[in-house]
Amino acid sequence: MSGGAGLHRNTMIDLKLDVPLEGLTTFGLRSTAEAYAEAATTDELRAALAAARERNLPVHFLGGGANTVAMPRVKGLVVRVTMKGFDARRAADGDVLVTAAAGEVWDEVVSRTVAQGFGGLENLAAVPGTVGGAVVQNIGAYGLELAERLESVTVYDRSSESVRMLTREACDFGYRHSIFKTEAGKDLVVLSATLRLPGEWSPVMTYKGIDEALGDAEPTPAALEAVVRAIRAKKLPDPKVLGNAGSFFKNPVVPKVAARPLLTVHQSLVAYPLGGARVKLAAGWLIEQAGFKGYRSGPVGVCENHALILVNYGGATGEDVLRLMKEITAGVETKFGIALEPEPVFLE
Ligand code: EPU
Repeated sequence: MSGGAGLHRNTMIDLKLDVPLEGLTTFGLRSTAEAYAEAATTDELRAALAAARERNLPVHFLGGGANTVAMPRVKGLVVRVTMKGFDARRAADGDVLVTAAAGEVWDEVVSRTVAQGFGGLENLAAVPGTVGGAVVQNIGAYGLELAERLESVTVYDRSSESVRMLTREACDFGYRHSIFKTEAGKDLVVLSATLRLPGEWSPVMTYKGIDEALGDAEPTPAALEAVVRAIRAKKLPDPKVLGNAGSFFKNPVVPKVAARPLLTVHQSLVAYPLGGARVKLAAGWLIEQAGFKGYRSGPVGVCENHALILVNYGGATGEDVLRLMKEITAGVETKFGIALEPEPVFLE
């Protein structure tokens, strides 16, 4: 996927000014980017970066906009990564290697692999956004994190102006975390990801609702995919109907000792044990118990079915979201002494 040296000098990009972003994010917040370009190839990416450098504009990257809070005026150049490419084949060792370009829609990667008879990604069905976003965010749902299936990532390194490969270890994945969200990864743009699916498939059934929903059906990749889609459709609002960015807060990870008094007082508080004497608390529970489920403030609110999701009832801006976010964070902090952190990326 790398371009030949110097080729980018001849690549034209269509740099547009004052571009509305609401149609480009699932939250649908009213927002305008100072400048906007799309990069469908590495050469177009290089050309966009060169154009930003010439104009002294900061650069932001956008994939499917599924985890993005776009503030009303985004300074600089927004580059939407739209590279396409997909390949899935069985390797000599029996595992399946899937390579997908950053601009591919994540959910299509899931459905295509399952349709080809390759299981391993089905728990991550219907997660919105692109492959690039899925990697940066280390998406996780229904008992599986992307990092568990990731073999390597091809990146464009802005500091050396070169294309290189990162192993899974080098990506420093954690819960909703990767090197791409840190200072060390600020120059890296995901171009594609290679996934390794187990040659001998076995279902991931750790999420409690899955077993129940599957009932007596045989657990095949396609059956699990269907179950996950049904659970999501029941629990989570469809961004095409009601703008949202999925879980708005991360589930807070706290030391066990700090959680113990809370867990003693609140027996229904949902907590998942983690290594290192830590626990992950359900932010949705904390927000609901702090009284915010279904709460509405102007054009934004907290989803009626799931307190972890903030929704745009129409015409909202990032300022409305920020205000609501602060209100919820303060409410949860006062009631439980737990600091919530937002999951989405803010574009400003
Ligand atoms: N809960 C409440 N009230 C609520 C919502 C949830 O009490 O309003 C409780 C539930 O009863 C449940 C617990 O919180 O026992 C956990 O809820 P759920 O299973 O819905 O999952 P979650 O922890 O809220 C995480 C991910 C989701 C992912 C699901 C399923 C984060 C921030 N979110 O949500 O990911 O789909 O698990 O695995 O980790 C996303 O990141 O955008 C996202 C949707």
